[in-house]
Amino acid sequence: MLIGCKLYYFDSIDSTNEYAKSLINKAPEGTVILADQQTEGKGRSEKKWYSPLDGIWMSVILRPPNISLVSIAAGISVCEALHMMGILPGLKWPNDILLNYKKIGGILTEIIDDTVILGIGVNLNIRRFPKELMSIASSVFLETKKHLDKKTVFDLICKQLDDCYAILKSNKTTRLLEKWRHYTLLLGQEVAIEMGDKTLTGRVLDIGNDGGLVIMLPDRKVERVFGGVCHLKKR
Ligand code: BTN
Repeated sequence: MLIGCKLYYFDSIDSTNEYAKSLINKAPEGTVILADQQTEGKGRSEKKWYSPLDGIWMSVILRPPNISLVSIAAGISVCEALHMMGILPGLKWPNDILLNYKKIGGILTEIIDDTVILGIGVNLNIRRFPKELMSIASSVFLETKKHLDKKTVFDLICKQLDDCYAILKSNKTTRLLEKWRHYTLLLGQEVAIEMGDKTLTGRVLDIGNDGGLVIMLPDRKVERVFGGVCHLKKR
């Protein structure tokens, strides 16, 4: 197995993504950094990522032929791992893992030359969030009242990521996109995509081979979106 061929484990660290960066020139592809807690966990858009004990905080060093589908592959892997444990989360583009429409995990990819640092955070058994996060974040435990074994879920994520990454490397993009369509919560839904000071609204039609979200705007024009924050309109 490529993913986890080398493992660095910490009981506490600032950020597994930051540690991964310090290993870039010496670690083989597939190296995983895992921590029980992070003191400076990083989220997307320069946000902090709450990372107490009882979550899965990991980073993987990858050198993919094409970076565009790495975070999609990671999201799928987390969904597959949790589905195997009887938990049924879904994906919100580009990289949120939702359970009961609440965020229980996220992916942060950082690109340095030809290397991708793939950071994966899963709020597994967390029982309480700081007040300011309570309305947006949740955990598998809070949503299901099930306490899952962290090591089992971590092993499953590595295994599923190994499969998805092999698919990505062999350029079988269609296979990966089929999986995404299976797990996404967005197909056919009305969304608003915030991109800096611009917001695009429309209905989600599909995902493109390049990982872009294909949406139909109110004037029926079809556009592909590559970045931004996606809000699901109330159903
Ligand atoms: C997001 O904002 O949705 C992405 C969150 C990514 C968090 C993970 S936890 C492991 C890795 N190390 C970090 O500092 N961040 C990522």
